[in-house]
Amino acid sequence: MTTATDIAALRTRALRDLLSHLDGSATDQWPVVAGSSTTDFADPVRAELERDRIFGEVPFIVAHGSEVAQRNDFVTVELPRNKVILIRQRDGGVKALINSCRHRGAELVSEESGKCRLFSCPYHRWSYDPSGALRTVTLDSTFGDFDRSAYGLVEVPVEERHGFIWVIDNPHRQIDVAAWLGPEVDAIMASYAIGDLVSIDPHTYRRPVNWKIMQDGFLDNYHVKYAHPNTAGKMLHTNAVALQDFGRSFWFLTARKTLDQFIGHDVEWTASMEAHTIESIFLGPNTMLLKHATHFELLTFRPIGANPGESIMQMRIMAPSVEASGLEPEHWRKRWAKNWGLLIAILHDEDFPILDGSQRSMNNLDAGPMLLGRNEIASHLFRRLVDDLIGAAR
Ligand code: FES
Ligand SMILES: [Fe+2]
Repeated sequence: MTTATDIAALRTRALRDLLSHLDGSATDQWPVVAGSSTTDFADPVRAELERDRIFGEVPFIVAHGSEVAQRNDFVTVELPRNKVILIRQRDGGVKALINSCRHRGAELVSEESGKCRLFSCPYHRWSYDPSGALRTVTLDSTFGDFDRSAYGLVEVPVEERHGFIWVIDNPHRQIDVAAWLGPEVDAIMASYAIGDLVSIDPHTYRRPVNWKIMQDGFLDNYHVKYAHPNTAGKMLHTNAVALQDFGRSFWFLTARKTLDQFIGHDVEWTASMEAHTIESIFLGPNTMLLKHATHFELLTFRPIGANPGESIMQMRIMAPSVEASGLEPEHWRKRWAKNWGLLIAILHDEDFPILDGSQRSMNNLDAGPMLLGRNEIASHLFRRLVDDLIGAAR
């Protein structure tokens, strides 16, 4: 499946399945109920495997290209294995440089973002240019000889594709995002043209929660009306998903309540259906992309080092720039500030307290085995990928 016609057929098929699910209180299902154990979310040995065999082996998104739009723009990013500086290069490419001075390892950049022509180490003032090359050694007549070309900042592999910046958090790997996504998901991503949009005010949260609990929480269509009765639950259907499995990633459609007017009708996908559905892609191993009628949201989750009880969640909105939108700058700003306000309120008041409590509960040594229902198909597929990558038997 690689053409626009194929993608339209996927949407029509999913739309019809979703309407029939809504009609019969059904959803796409996994073949079996599965067990789950607290150690999956609390065991430091498993956390180390996840850090190395997932984040050290496969590509994942760390930014949208517009966050480092101009030459020498940088952001610092905490990855599970390395803290890196993402910086736009003179040739338009992006590099991810490990944020450690090669002299005695001081943290080179402490700012979250900025623009820099020369990184100067705060400890002894060695300096590096934006490509990571070692430029100057302080008092070098006394320091002694060494091969400067071998002491540039260490790079991890980066690729910019479909508007996003992807990395593998391991200098000894090569990155190929298209190969990782596979032809179908690569074609769907290309059709979205997210590179033409801008990332508006990305938010980063450090949470006292395992990254998989966080990811599961945002793959979960089963909790919507129970955990969000007065917000998302009012607008969205609960426990109705039409899903297409693409191996490492999967695509799915969920319903707004306004879709009910089409129950019982034989409909084709048209652009007007965007107002009544949410199209999502889980990009393995740690990302959810949601397509709305006017914008995209991207949610990423990654562990902090090998700590099973700490993670970083990043949330992004990608939409047309002020210029492309044709809106007055003030109107544009207010519009997205309002959108962010709604998202953040649900997150802080409703999702975070539940997910924080889940992690506290994983430390109960005798809580007993847990279950993942057949209706929780997205979480089964996420678990399948994680287990495959770390080589876990289940
Ligand atoms: S540690 Fe950076 S210059 Fe010494
Ligand atoms: Fe939620």
